[in-house]
Amino acid sequence: MNLKGRHFITLLDYSKEEIMGLIDLSIKLKKEKKDGKTHKVLSDKNVVLLFQKDSTRTRSAFEVGAFDLGMGATYVGPSGSQMGKKESVKDTARVLGRMYDGIEFRGYRQSDVEILAEHAGVPVWNGLTDKYHPTQILADFMTIKESFGTLQGIKLAYFGDARNNMGNSLMIGAAKMGMHFVAAAPKSLWPDEVLIKTCEAIGEASGARIELSENAFEAAKDADVIYTDVWVSMGEPKEVWEERIKALVPYQVTPKLMMLAKEKAIFMHCLPAFHGEDTDMGVDIASAFGKKYPSVRNGELEVTDAVIEGPQSVVFEEAENRMHTIKAVMLATLGGSHV
Ligand code: CP
Ligand code: NVA
Repeated sequence: MNLKGRHFITLLDYSKEEIMGLIDLSIKLKKEKKDGKTHKVLSDKNVVLLFQKDSTRTRSAFEVGAFDLGMGATYVGPSGSQMGKKESVKDTARVLGRMYDGIEFRGYRQSDVEILAEHAGVPVWNGLTDKYHPTQILADFMTIKESFGTLQGIKLAYFGDARNNMGNSLMIGAAKMGMHFVAAAPKSLWPDEVLIKTCEAIGEASGARIELSENAFEAAKDADVIYTDVWVSMGEPKEVWEERIKALVPYQVTPKLMMLAKEKAIFMHCLPAFHGEDTDMGVDIASAFGKKYPSVRNGELEVTDAVIEGPQSVVFEEAENRMHTIKAVMLATLGGSHV
């Protein structure tokens, strides 16, 4: 696998073998790190991390991954640069590409990460846009491989806003890797028709099955993986909360839903998650909507506390894997020797 010089902005650009190669490299890097082996093979390189939206995991994963590889890393936060305000994304790309060896971008428009990739002259990595979140999928699929030893044929049922960055990217990833993907959501929150068709076509070669369902219980039946994400994504106005709660309450991941999945099924969530009243937003939502929608009265939204804290939940392993997978993406695309 030679990915030197490649961008990582959507999984649509990567083959099944390349995705599996990155997952296997991540598993190797994780094991070696735990065994005490260091990976400072890119000590002559520097990367810049551009964040138009906040982050805990993605930022930390890029910073720790870069330091582990011996690289310098500059974090530029939502108000920390001229990009998009006094300077175009295209100009920013041409400036930063002369100083850095790789650029991470988290923001709103997928077109912005594409413009960076077109003009930077160095690898550009998508750390989340409104449309896609491809580095998250690598960590998710690594976690699934660690749990089941394979991705082929694994049934992953996704509950929630299926046309957000996670719904789109999980569907693409599942199509590439020959999985059985089911999105459980009301029709209004299904992915774009064109993307569904694209994924179905990809799935013909890989053996994947792509399904959309309005029935949460049917979707959960015999699943290996039950997956959910926040009901309102970064960048959406807070006015959408009520309609989203109304639409998605039937898709909340509860112990009852988990019972329908296979006995050895795992629960996954990209995080951050609302599963109690220990966040400001969770408290606000519980007090605003708890009376009308009793299932959210304790600040439990997309998932109940019992599920996320329960024995089937692998969410923190999944979060840790963000770091190993992002490190693998930087190592492979910057062309570091594979340690
Ligand atoms: N899962 C994820 O991308 O988390 P952050 O928003 O904390 O980076
Ligand atoms: N759909 C979520 C994912 C967070 C990692 C968002 O965009 O906010």
